[in-house]
Amino acid sequence: MKKIISSFFVLSLVMFFSCSQAELASLRGDMVENPSDAPEIKHYLKDQPPMARDYLQQPPLIPHNIDGYMINIKHNKCLGCHSWTNYKRHNATKISQTHFESRDGAVMSNVSPRRFFCLQCHVPQVDSRPLVENTFAPVDAMRLQ
Ligand code: HEC
Ligand code: HEC
Repeated sequence: MKKIISSFFVLSLVMFFSCSQAELASLRGDMVENPSDAPEIKHYLKDQPPMARDYLQQPPLIPHNIDGYMINIKHNKCLGCHSWTNYKRHNATKISQTHFESRDGAVMSNVSPRRFFCLQCHVPQVDSRPLVENTFAPVDAMRLQ
């Protein structure tokens, strides 16, 4: 019995080492153990009208430049245009009612803290190839006819 266990042990060691020798590819393009090259700086798309959404609950993508837009505990540049008080003046979309709900579902009189850091959910776009090819398609309800 001892012999069987020890030969099993040796076999698994051999398998472990031969697997770890195999070349692993990484999506960032470098070998796994190497540091990455500095990524090339990609430019945001030009300002444009709102982009089509792919599913109903999707946070809309940001269709404009946001360089230098600061969000911190005292200041929120985004609300300077998107809040209910400011949206008309800037011709921007107002944040929706869901942004006033606390995580317990209570409706608040101001933006909920969990919606304060807009860039957690809303992101600007660059024109680049997806890292992994895929066949993703928008849900029927959002597909442009
Ligand atoms: C100077 C004013 C201004 C500021 C500041 C601003 N936006 Fe906008 N935003 C706009 C305008 C104008 C539109 C386009 C509205 C249209 O064409 O219908 C827009 C569109 C958007 C949309 C698309 C809405 C949709 O229905 O698809 C999102 C999302 C958005 N902005 C998020 C942000 C976020 C997040 C920030 C802060 C990082 C921000 N915006 C800062 C003016 C602004
Ligand atoms: C936790 C994720 C999250 C955060 C944080 C967040 N949003 Fe949203 N936002 C969404 C989702 C999801 C939608 C689409 C569904 C909806 O309207 O609630 C949305 C919708 C919007 C819309 C479109 C509303 C409409 O009527 O079409 C605007 C504009 C917007 N958000 C701006 C902002 C701004 C500005 C902030 C920061 C103050 C922000 N959001 C923070 C998730 C988020």
